[in-house]
Amino acid sequence: MALPNNGIQSTQTLLDAQSHVWNHLFNFISSMSLKCVLQLGIPDIIRKHGKPMTLSELIHSLHLNEAKSGSLERLMRNMINSKFFINVKISEIDEIEGYWLTSASHLLLRDEPLSVRPFALAMLDPILTDPWHHVSEWFKTDDDLNPFVTTHGRTFWEHAGQEPRLNRFFNEGMASDAMLVANVITEECRNVFEGLKSMVDVGGGTGTVAKAVVDTFPGLNCVVLDLPHVVAGCEGTENLTFVAGDMFEYIPPADAVFMKWILHDWPDEKCLKILEKSKQAVSDKERGGKVIIVDMVVDFQKKHEAIETQLFFDMLMMNLTSGRERTEKEWAELFSVAGFTSYKITPVLELRSLIELFP
Ligand SMILES: C[S@@+](CC[C@H](N)C(=O)[O-])C[C@H]1O[C@@H](n2cnc3c(N)ncnc32)[C@H](O)[C@@H]1O
Repeated sequence: MALPNNGIQSTQTLLDAQSHVWNHLFNFISSMSLKCVLQLGIPDIIRKHGKPMTLSELIHSLHLNEAKSGSLERLMRNMINSKFFINVKISEIDEIEGYWLTSASHLLLRDEPLSVRPFALAMLDPILTDPWHHVSEWFKTDDDLNPFVTTHGRTFWEHAGQEPRLNRFFNEGMASDAMLVANVITEECRNVFEGLKSMVDVGGGTGTVAKAVVDTFPGLNCVVLDLPHVVAGCEGTENLTFVAGDMFEYIPPADAVFMKWILHDWPDEKCLKILEKSKQAVSDKERGGKVIIVDMVVDFQKKHEAIETQLFFDMLMMNLTSGRERTEKEWAELFSVAGFTSYKITPVLELRSLIELFP
């Protein structure tokens, strides 16, 4: 029987379209399977085992009921398809296979210094995922805020100040990402920091990047400026100080202002205010002040997979904070309106870049 396709599309086109829709529809299963694997601690269990692990060894080590064996196998099959694990032959004779880690699941290990586990769990917490159910509702409001506010009744930063659990897991998530970024930039971008005597890490969280920078460049003193609930309890050192404050009010003077994942949290008019305060902070110095930004430059490298992830982040910012990811043209416009004379983009972090901005 002919499919009722108005004669416009071939059957193959219709079926391809259906697969496309289904794939989109169920993309959330990838995120939720990842969350389950992390919560069960499967990468850690396999790593602890030290060699490829059979299904029954896995179910035993996880202390799960044997009746869940088939379901666990299906979860693992899904995650193998998503390249988080591989199947490795353990015995040629019995054709027994075991699960082993990939480079992606190595990054999910609890005790891996550059683990993205805290970041992944933070991003998949219901406080952050609930607003996705309210995006169309938000579109129909007249406010210029975001779906996070529609859902929780206050901004992300206000909510983090009132909800200790959110404050803790978000700071941990940011710190885990900061560890990876700090590693790359202190190795690959030494010239960006060399010669600096002072730096303010604006919105620097619990100080992971600042600690790495002062450890790598001992002559450099660093101030971490963040909201009171973030820096409460953070202990400084001789060359690292934590300051509770509001970047829209005041940024202490320094040779450089550093901002990782700050400007993408804000719409243009707020970014201009932050850039204005940053410019004042680095212009008080007699020579060589600059602003160092770590953020995405959308489409900078023109790799399809990178662009897709950047566009996801753009939607994430729209949803949680009223921010956005920017193309080079949009950055350039922002820098120019803020009164900076030049900038240099170093695309050193694959999806993100390091941008130096000069007054
Ligand atoms: C996306 S997080 C980035 C944290 C850190 N820079 C990193 O990338 O790991 C944004 C940070 O900006 C801080 N922040 C938000 N509003 C702020 C304000 N008005 N003044 C200072 N910091 C602020 C938040 O508390 C949070 O730590």
